[in-house]
Amino acid sequence: MSDREPLSGLIDFHAHILPGLDDGPKDMAETEALLRQAYGEGIRVIFATSHYRPQLWQHPPEHYWQQLEAVQALTKQIGLNVQILPGNEVFYSSELIRALADGLCRPLRNRFVLLEFAPDLPFPQMLRAMDILTANRYRPLVAHVERYTCIQARPGLVRQLKDAGGWVQVNTGSIAGPPAPLTERVTARRLLRGGLIDILGTDCHHAVQRPASYQACADYLLRRCSEEYAWRLLVENPGVIFREP
Ligand SMILES: [Fe+2]
Repeated sequence: MSDREPLSGLIDFHAHILPGLDDGPKDMAETEALLRQAYGEGIRVIFATSHYRPQLWQHPPEHYWQQLEAVQALTKQIGLNVQILPGNEVFYSSELIRALADGLCRPLRNRFVLLEFAPDLPFPQMLRAMDILTANRYRPLVAHVERYTCIQARPGLVRQLKDAGGWVQVNTGSIAGPPAPLTERVTARRLLRGGLIDILGTDCHHAVQRPASYQACADYLLRRCSEEYAWRLLVENPGVIFREP
């Protein structure tokens, strides 16, 4: 148990909180359970990053906005002081720039795009994606970077993603908290020790199976990292994406 006061005012940059759009909550009751859990974890801003991956989940963009508004209304109705903001976890494809321009999927704020790849994508293709996004004035934020086999084999490759203009996100649960696959935990902690992580997100899908856990990770950072790096991960970098454009 931690002897620290729980942190609050945290921002979750990776959350499957909208119901019926992907493999996140099935209905509003499951969404409500996740919202209450996130609030209890000190999260006060949630980017609703439903998957955009038309091969697996298809829905018109209006459906995304309807669900976002419905969850914003639910949050108000149950009296939780949590801001729900638009975004997506976008699966990389050659159609991506067009899909962003057409509003089929959406960045977070300040042109940051939460970008997902196939787990075994060769690293040069990941780098190429950084180039394509940055050439179109987007800022790629690589989702759960600890899950890609090329990064698990050589975590130092993350430096090249950053040199190419990318930022990297790691799941809070990969660092501490709920049980995580060993390779992901080892990779996440190696990245943390190397000071290579930019942003954290819960990647929550369901209050029980894939929860919105944050405090255990925040506590681990405060105990194991320098004060400066913990501040950068919990406050400074989140502010770069979150602040009003
Ligand atoms: Fe996700």
